[in-house]
Amino acid sequence: MTERYGNIIGWGKYVPERVLTNADFVKTLDTTDEWIVTMTGIRERRIAEENENTSQMSTAASRDALKMAGVNAKDLDLIIVATSSPDYLTPPVSSQVQHMLGARDVGAFTLVTGCTGFVYGMATAQQFIASGAADNILVIGAELISRFVDYEDRATCVLFGDGAGAVVLQACDEPSGVLSFVLGSDGSGAEHLILPAGGTAIPPSHEALVNRQHYLRMNGREVFKFATRVLGKSLRQAIEEAGLTSEDIDLVVPHQANVRIIESAARQAKLPPEKVFVNIQKYGNTSAASIPIALCEALEEGRAKVGDTLAFVSFGAGLTWATAVVKLAECVKPTRVRKWWLPRLKWFSRNSGKGETEEEQSVPEKEQVGYESGD
Ligand code: ACO
Repeated sequence: MTERYGNIIGWGKYVPERVLTNADFVKTLDTTDEWIVTMTGIRERRIAEENENTSQMSTAASRDALKMAGVNAKDLDLIIVATSSPDYLTPPVSSQVQHMLGARDVGAFTLVTGCTGFVYGMATAQQFIASGAADNILVIGAELISRFVDYEDRATCVLFGDGAGAVVLQACDEPSGVLSFVLGSDGSGAEHLILPAGGTAIPPSHEALVNRQHYLRMNGREVFKFATRVLGKSLRQAIEEAGLTSEDIDLVVPHQANVRIIESAARQAKLPPEKVFVNIQKYGNTSAASIPIALCEALEEGRAKVGDTLAFVSFGAGLTWATAVVKLAECVKPTRVRKWWLPRLKWFSRNSGKGETEEEQSVPEKEQVGYESGD
């Protein structure tokens, strides 16, 4: 039986227009541009307007990714949204995005693993495609983290920004997409990066607000130590598991949290700086959105291209880590399976009064690909 891989065939990003520079922070906080740049590499970040939210940013990035892929939202089999800053605790933001895109008869879920969410999502999507359960999957990383940042806490507020990135994975029979991955979790470090109130442990209350427990709290030094301990190791491990060496990696697209952490991971994996993509200076840390945004920019700038082997490497709240070796292939022969339940779902949709939304009608129909019988 032919092996199936989830090749990236489309990508898109959305960042809010509003720019918050280091100079802006100097006006309100006891900080300097020099401290922020030297300690983190960040010069500016994007901040969403009041009327923007995570579902909208996800949808904007996804529309670009779908358009590039030539895939209609109706042809998606699964939507995965990685975020720790959804519009609501419930409903899941993935269902809002599914609706806004006009996707139907499609599974959608939200994945919450902090900044590693996009890489966890890619690894998950690859399993759905490899097993034959899905042909087209949309994986999104999106964060509107500025709503949870305490702008009186100089040690955290200068780090974060908002944005979204998305990729479309399509079944392909040549090695592509996620070739290997390393996922990890160490909950013993949970308190080092935590948003204390709003969940079941500390429900929203007047007291929680007064104590500013609805804001993200971070022990930067501990997170830094953790990141430099796990990143280089997981990068080396993922490269080895893909049967490759550092020399086979064309570009590392790391989570953009701190330029010093990125440099340490690259050094440990013996990858020279020119093989590492950095755009933290423009966006700061956009958590689960940082890798898909960086991937888009690396492709736009020609730093990454079809045929390249990339490494995505990330760490974040949990504490968690996630690394994947990803091949961008020119897949000319996508593999398809016939899903026996699809005709029934379509029949149910037609007869349950679900009409096409305006968004659906505005997306051009994907060229129909004949389904091979896979069952
Ligand atoms: N401006 C000026 N001084 C500052 C600022 C600031 N914005 N923030 C902190 N300081 C001060 C501290 O108060 C401290 O002062 P003190 O020595 O008088 O007490 C001094 O700078 C050093 O502070 P540390 O926190 O010990 O500095 P550190 O070397 O650890 O650097 C930093 C801080 C940049 C935050 C670093 O710890 C870091 O990047 N950690 C990782 C953070 C991270 O990546 N978090 C996100 C991961 S998960 C996710 O992406 C959602």
